Amino acid sequence: MSDIPRIHTPGILDEDDAVAVTLRPRRLRDFVGQEGLREQLAVSVEAARARGEALDHVLFAGPPGLGKTSLAQILAEELGVPCVSTAAPALERKGDVAAFLTALEPRSVFFVDEIHRLPRALEETFYPAMEDGKLPITVGQGAGARVMTLDLPPFTLVGATTRAGRLTTPLRDRFGIQHRLEPYGVADLGLIVQRSAGILGIELAPDGAEAIAARSRGTPRVANRLLKRVRDYAEVRAGGVVTAPVADAALGLMEVDRLGLDRLDREILGAICEKFEGGPVGLSTLAVAVQEETDTLEDVYEPYLLQCGLIKRTPRGRVATFRAYAHLGLEPPATDPALF
Ligand SMILES: Nc1ncnc2c1ncn2[C@@H]1O[C@H](COP(=O)(O)OP(=O)(O)O)[C@@H](O)[C@H]1O
Ligand SMILES: [Mg+2]
Repeated sequence: MSDIPRIHTPGILDEDDAVAVTLRPRRLRDFVGQEGLREQLAVSVEAARARGEALDHVLFAGPPGLGKTSLAQILAEELGVPCVSTAAPALERKGDVAAFLTALEPRSVFFVDEIHRLPRALEETFYPAMEDGKLPITVGQGAGARVMTLDLPPFTLVGATTRAGRLTTPLRDRFGIQHRLEPYGVADLGLIVQRSAGILGIELAPDGAEAIAARSRGTPRVANRLLKRVRDYAEVRAGGVVTAPVADAALGLMEVDRLGLDRLDREILGAICEKFEGGPVGLSTLAVAVQEETDTLEDVYEPYLLQCGLIKRTPRGRVATFRAYAHLGLEPPATDPALF
């Protein structure tokens, strides 16, 4: 190992699976925050278990890193059934879906990540499977082809999406349980990093937890990532204990500012304020200006900037608020662009 701290700006989309596995909550009681959602799921799980039935199909929507995959696995754990996972882009043909569905043990959780990316033709395969537990398949070819209907074992489809709006209504309507995950508050994020510090054996002072939580942009995955980078810094530069000053120094080095904005967040804000004079500017134009994918801007960056009140969405595009100018240390325009 080199003695240079492994510190870099946190990417938000890249998974850190090795650690995610150990930090991922296993049971509902380990899942921090989102009380309403947790209570509702606990009731649904208990009812399904008591009846010996498969849980109704569940859809989780919300920005990356808020716990959708964790919840799918937790549901299986709480139901005491296997969890079979795939992602919609891996499903190309009807046969792929059939292979999964016919092999499920009764009442299993079938987790389909990024379900908004399911090809339309395949969506129709899911309708009868979700509704009636039936899977029509075509056997043979040409004149001899005939349609057979397979009876499927009862199962729970758990879909996760960062884009609920991209699901067709017929598919969305077939999920009996639907939840939208919202960004976490600082208190919950503080509990999450404390739990993670316990698992990873990191000495984390309460003010250190708060400093990390405050800059985690409402996202548990980001909180865990920042914690690991801050730990590196603490070990190499500060004697190992993560206190607020240590966290601040480490995060400063990573260019994560006091609101938790990283360099790209600030570039986005800077572009709206300076290049586009506060806006309104369309999302795709903005994406070109900062050289990022439109989807990434919308899924990953925009929700937090909106949450911080730094930008607003208007029918004509995104605008910067006075707060954005203040945060960047720029002179605000005479009239608030957010009023347009
Ligand atoms: N409510 C929570 N309590 C504790 N840890 C959480 C919670 N939500 C997410 N995490 C942590 O964040 C990581 C990312 O969560 P994940 O379920 O993969 O998010 P998503 O699937 O929505 O992108 C998990 O590995 C876990 O460590
Ligand atoms: Mg996920």
